[in-house]
Parts: sequence; structure tokens; C-alpha cells
Amino acid sequence: MTIPTLTEAELRAAVERELPGVRADLERLVRIPGIAFDGFDHSHVERSAEAVAELLRGCNLDVRIVRSGGQPAVIGKRPAPPGAPTVLLYAHHDVQPVGDRALWESEPFEPVERDGRLYGRGAADDKAGIMAHVAALRAFGDALPVGVVLFIEGEEEYGSDSLERLLAEHRDEIASDVIVIADSTNWDVGVPALTTSLRGIVNCFVEVRTLGQAVHSGMFGGAVPDALTTLARLIATLHDDAGNVAVAGLVARETATVDYPEDRLRAEAGLADGVSFIGSGRLTDRIWSKPALDVLGIDAPPTNEAPNALVPTAKAKLSLRLAPGDDRKRAYAALTAHLEKNVPWGAQVTVTFEHDGDPCVIDASGPMFDAARAAFRSAWDGTDPVDIGIGGSIPFIATFQEMFPQAAILVTGVEDPHARAHGPNESLHLGEFARACLAEALLLANVARAGGSAD
Ligand code: BES
Ligand code: MN
Repeated sequence: MTIPTLTEAELRAAVERELPGVRADLERLVRIPGIAFDGFDHSHVERSAEAVAELLRGCNLDVRIVRSGGQPAVIGKRPAPPGAPTVLLYAHHDVQPVGDRALWESEPFEPVERDGRLYGRGAADDKAGIMAHVAALRAFGDALPVGVVLFIEGEEEYGSDSLERLLAEHRDEIASDVIVIADSTNWDVGVPALTTSLRGIVNCFVEVRTLGQAVHSGMFGGAVPDALTTLARLIATLHDDAGNVAVAGLVARETATVDYPEDRLRAEAGLADGVSFIGSGRLTDRIWSKPALDVLGIDAPPTNEAPNALVPTAKAKLSLRLAPGDDRKRAYAALTAHLEKNVPWGAQVTVTFEHDGDPCVIDASGPMFDAARAAFRSAWDGTDPVDIGIGGSIPFIATFQEMFPQAAILVTGVEDPHARAHGPNESLHLGEFARACLAEALLLANVARAGGSAD
């Protein structure tokens, strides 16, 4: 059955009409510093959930703020017209901490436009994802040809600890035939992408102790190991000389279908002069489908205060990215075993888990993927989307895949390679954002045409 809906021309005009309001609401969201990390004021996450709920109510959805021991998520529903599919629209409203404020060229929570980009923490990741969903709903108004469930998570950037419980508790509400995850990136400015694999993640802390307390470095140094050197040597065992992860038992795959030109990756990452890439194999395999292991931080005496004393304990935060096909529990066990086995000089070592998320692979074939590709092609004026992997993680996807194996998962996004998500000066390309909003509206129309509900 074909459900009457807006034509492509009408949708183009409607998205155009809605964009100024969408932009204003995006700026409103960016002003709320909702960070789910421990130690941050979570009242902002509450306010941000409220603001999202208000936006969804404005789209004529039935809205609830829900939680399961963690930060608030927002669920908004509109039932499907008879015979039409239900589409779940996912994004997250929490953001990463801002890091070193001095590195920001403008206030992180005060959105400003420069050269066609909107700067601010969360302007791209992922408040623009929320607004792409809202833009599509506003464009359709009452003529929405599908049922929708909006699921806007509140702790994605902090590992989605309560997500599994939350999804289980709201299983019936979120059941859907298709899901659109607006939390990834496009291939380049002017070239859209469909994301078909994501890495998983295991974050943990490793602490080494060599001494009961700090002691004079002149009296004992040479015979007694300091904890910082010990930790550095332990960290040095995590990679081989080429920079491949040296932890035994991790999955590594070679799946890339596209290549990242070296100089492009170098420029996008801002690699300093003379620094080489690490690892081996194609660059896209290294960043999408092989493991990566990085040290995110170290607790040790700051250099400007460090006395001439041997450091008794030192702690590092490690982040292990898992290849598609790996398993987060098995990977954490492998990493822990490696750390315990390789710690030098008999130092005491303690590994503490922080958070994790499973990787995923999506078989991007079938009518819903055709519907998405056609929508992207139209929104980007005839440019076909590229199938990409991403090296980042979205724990929601694997959890959802397990619960609803039949659902088609369309991973879209508003980011481009210059968005600097998680770093200082995060920004959204406003021209690409307009295309992403149009693409989502066209996608919903195409999905309605492509198929009825699974039940
Ligand atoms: N939007 C990102 C995922 C992403 C990364 C998309 C790179 C496109 C390119 C997402 O919000 C994110 O950063 N997730 C966290 C999850 C983690 C805390 C479990 C990540 O990957 O660090
Ligand atoms: Mn995100």
C-alpha cells in the first residue's frame, strides 16, 4: 500500500522553510553543557533532556523522559499509519567534556558561526543529529508517512552504562522495522556516506605500585624502581615496533573497500611534521577494522611540582578500540592478562574497568538501504553515498541489533572530516547539515514507499 505523502519537491521546500528554526533550536541545545561523565554537574543533562522533550512534543510526539539508574533518555512516539513501517530515530543529547578551554577559539557552549560552520561542543556530535530528526519531522508535519520512535540517549559519550537495561525495559515501545542512527560522519564535504561497521571499545585504568611512599631519588634511585618508569615500560609493551597492537587474542580484520589518501588523513588528524603513521596494512583497515590501543591520560606528579623523589604509584587510562567481530568481555580479559603478565620488576598492578561497547557490522543490502542510498543521492545532487566503516563506537547499535535482528540499521550522520568531534573547536558544516536534514526527510518518504511493517 502506498501512503500519500509529500513529493520530493514539496519536501525540499519544506526543509528549506524549516531550516532557520532548526538552526535556532540547535543553538539552544548547544548552550546546555550536558556532560554525563562522573564528576560533572548532571543537572545540565537533565535540562538538556527537558529541552529535547520539548522539541519532540512540538513535533506532535507522545514524549517520555526515561532512565534506568543512569542519565535521562527521551522517547517520543507517533504510531504508524495503517500498513506503514515504524522507524526508530536515534541520536544522543549528552556531549563530551570540553578539555582545555584555552584551546577553544570561542566559548564551547556559546554557538558561533565562522566560515559556514557552527562552532560549539555538541554542535555536530550529536545535537545536530537530534535536529536532523526534528527537521525531517517538521518538514512532514501531519503528512508523516511512517510511524516514528525517537530515542535520544543521555549518556552515549560516557559508555551507555544503563542502556541495556533501559532498552530491555522499553522493548515494546522501541520495537521498529528500520532504525536511523544520526551519529556518524559523511565521507567528505559534498560526499555522503552510509556507515556499515563500527569498532567496539573497552576503557580501563591500570595502576602500578612499586613503593609504599615517595622516597629520595638520590638515596634509592638506581636500585629501586619508580612507578612512573615502570608504568611507561608496561605501556611500551602494548604495541610492536611498527605500532600494531601487541595484545594477544584480539580480532583484526581487513575489510576496507575504500582507501583514505595518506595526505588527507595526515591533514585531517593534524599530524605534526615528521610524525609517521603507526600500524600496518591499509589506512582504512587500521582506523576501522583493526584494534587500536591508546593512553588517554596519566595520573602522576605534575612536572612543575615534582620533587626529587621516586614516584610510588602511577595510573594510566587506556582505551582499546575493538575490530568488528570482536567481543568486549573477551577483549577486556585479553588486555588484563597482557598487563598482568608484562608488568616489569614484579610491580603490583591493578586493572579497573571503566566502560565498554560492542563493535558491529551491518549488512547494508536490501530495500531499506536502497531507500537510504537514493535519498542521499538526491540530497547531495546526484553524488552517490560511499559505504564506510568508522573507528568510533556507538554501543546502542550492537545492543539494538541483538534485540531486533530483523531491523534494518541505517547509520547516517551530520559530521564531516573537519568536525573535530571530542576536540577543541568542534563544529558543524551548515551546508552539509542542510543536506543531511533533507536526506533524512527523503529517506523517510522512501522507506514508506519501500515497505510495510514487519508485523
Ligand atoms: N559520534 C561518535 C561516534 C563516531 C566517531 C562517529 C567517529 C563518527 C566518527 C560517538 O558519539 C562517540 O564518540 N562514541 C564514543 C562511545 C564510547 C564512549 C563508548 C566513542 O567512540 O568514543
Ligand atoms: Mn556521537
